[in-house]
Amino acid sequence: MAKKVKQPSAHRNGIKPPKLERKQIPNHVAIVMDGNGRWAKSQGLPRTAGHEAGEKALVDIVNGAIEIGIKELSVYAFSTENWKRSPQEVKFLMGFNRDVIHSRRDELNDLGVKIRWVGREKRLWKTVVDELEQAESLTKNNKVLTLNMCINYGGRAEILDAAVAIAKDAMRKKIKPDALTEKSITKYLYAPLMSDVDLFIRSSGEQRTSNFLMWQSAYAEMVFLDVLWPDADRRTLWKAIEIYAERERRFGKA
Ligand code: FPP
Repeated sequence: MAKKVKQPSAHRNGIKPPKLERKQIPNHVAIVMDGNGRWAKSQGLPRTAGHEAGEKALVDIVNGAIEIGIKELSVYAFSTENWKRSPQEVKFLMGFNRDVIHSRRDELNDLGVKIRWVGREKRLWKTVVDELEQAESLTKNNKVLTLNMCINYGGRAEILDAAVAIAKDAMRKKIKPDALTEKSITKYLYAPLMSDVDLFIRSSGEQRTSNFLMWQSAYAEMVFLDVLWPDADRRTLWKAIEIYAERERRFGKA
């Protein structure tokens, strides 16, 4: 029997998603949750308080993504470059990711969210990997929304790791180099089932992709918004979708 899922919570102001046609709504949205440090600074708080405040924004956006009908959401929670931050901040971010996944997994499961970890195992804290694997196992049959938690993720690292695995398979004669296609390469990425990104959002006003989902975002529509991540909520997502709905996507065609 199919599991009964909970309806997403309403926004605290009761506002509803914009009315758009199905084809105007992106299937896969990727978000660079940027601006936590600047938000904390503006409040006279330590940087870590900015990350803590970002949790609420993420949860509200997951509810808003379900409300509007998005099927896949990828969030950049820790990049392969974030190891360059201070040891204190790295330690905080590791523990924070682990604790958020633990404390939110039941609520996400009730909403029918499938949690998927996307990233590199090397260097990542074992307790974080364990927590991610438990969340993946708990939510594996869910169908409402796939939430890709990109932790210890980097686009170049992903392509490098795929290249190494492909070279090894070629040496073992498991694949023929000349037979490789764009589609067959995706089988070597961290999440082979991930769909191409339709809409790529970055908060905080910075206009960079910062090594996020490089392969998958080749034809994504980019939307950069001037809000710091802790101030974002589902209205931020819906605004980006309204901008997306106005774009003409040609995928190289004239
Ligand atoms: C960027 O802000 C954010 C990150 C390094 C990723 C961490 C994101 C969160 C903690 C948000 C919620 C995540 C979870 C797991 C609930 P920044 O520190 O680069 O900000 P700055 O550019 O203003 O310094």
